[in-house]
Amino acid sequence: MKLNIAKLPGDGIGPEVVEEAAKVVDAVCRRFGHEVSWHFAWAGACAIDRFGNAFPEETYRTCLEADAVLFGAVGDPKYDNDPTARVRPEQGLLAMRKQLGLYANLRPVETFKSLVHKSPLKEELVDGADFLVLRELTGGMYFGEKGRLDGGDTAYDTNIYHRYEIERILKQAFTFAMQRRKHLTVVDKANVLESSRLWRQVAQEMAPQYPEVTTDYMFVDNAAMKLITGPKFFDVIVTENTFGDILTDEASVVSGSMGLLASASIGEKTGVYEPIHGSWPQAAGKGIANPVAAILSAAMMFEYAFGLMAEGKAIRQAVADSLAAGVVTDDLADGGKAFSTSQVGDWIAERIERK
Ligand code: IPM
Ligand code: MN
Repeated sequence: MKLNIAKLPGDGIGPEVVEEAAKVVDAVCRRFGHEVSWHFAWAGACAIDRFGNAFPEETYRTCLEADAVLFGAVGDPKYDNDPTARVRPEQGLLAMRKQLGLYANLRPVETFKSLVHKSPLKEELVDGADFLVLRELTGGMYFGEKGRLDGGDTAYDTNIYHRYEIERILKQAFTFAMQRRKHLTVVDKANVLESSRLWRQVAQEMAPQYPEVTTDYMFVDNAAMKLITGPKFFDVIVTENTFGDILTDEASVVSGSMGLLASASIGEKTGVYEPIHGSWPQAAGKGIANPVAAILSAAMMFEYAFGLMAEGKAIRQAVADSLAAGVVTDDLADGGKAFSTSQVGDWIAERIERK
């Protein structure tokens, strides 16, 4: 197969981890006989520095023309503590999500046998936890009307959802639940928020179409607790944009390191595959970033963008082998030997090719 992949490394540790993910993609393509062509584009703070825009038109074109986008991370501390900054790297991410229609963000959380002791949670609570969070990504407070009143002393963000936005993400959620353990948890705040009541109403209307799926409803505060006290309860979680943002950071502690969590954002146009860890500017250029989340995002890319399941599996197996062999970066080294970002990438790429 011919694979056209847009490569958007972004800022901070983005370029380092994307480099390793690309290395692994190249190895997979050599082993399975695919032809890959890479198309680089700027996004985030580095794009602001060059073009004054965090997601330039040309980057959008590159994404549109590709079959998949491999994305690193965006963000730079020089913007974080300046509430008056008019352009921000994160706007690039939001523009990309909106323009590509990426309404479904898939964040799988799984535990690796060799790492269960790394989680700050009790081993018996996390061992075997395996769930998928589906976060709505182009609606809600992130994109609703926002502004200032009273000469700037009053500020508001609107949490708005239309029925079609809820229906399409719920359809994905039920479909994933059917392919997994057939348990869907709809997370909302329907005891307080009108938008949540619409979510719950639409979910209740759709649930009878999926009689095999056990659907339950949970308030977000309760879900936040349950993720810590009993993560094995969950199979598929679906929720709105802001709740999903918060819950997936929380959920990342279940697997032991944020450096392990991959994501896929899919929707109307080209899908984007990216680690959830962000740009970690303090670590940029040091070779200490964990490339596994980016590498597992590449696995998701093979599976979701190209339907190449064996290729995805080969990556997952090589990653599990690297973790079991202790070929890990500092975040997972437990005071033992820490490998560099590129050493971990090399090991995984070689493992794939030599199998
Ligand atoms: C994420 C990030 C982004 C978000 C930021 C960088 C805008 O935290 O992908 O989870 O809030 O969606
Ligand atoms: Mn987030």
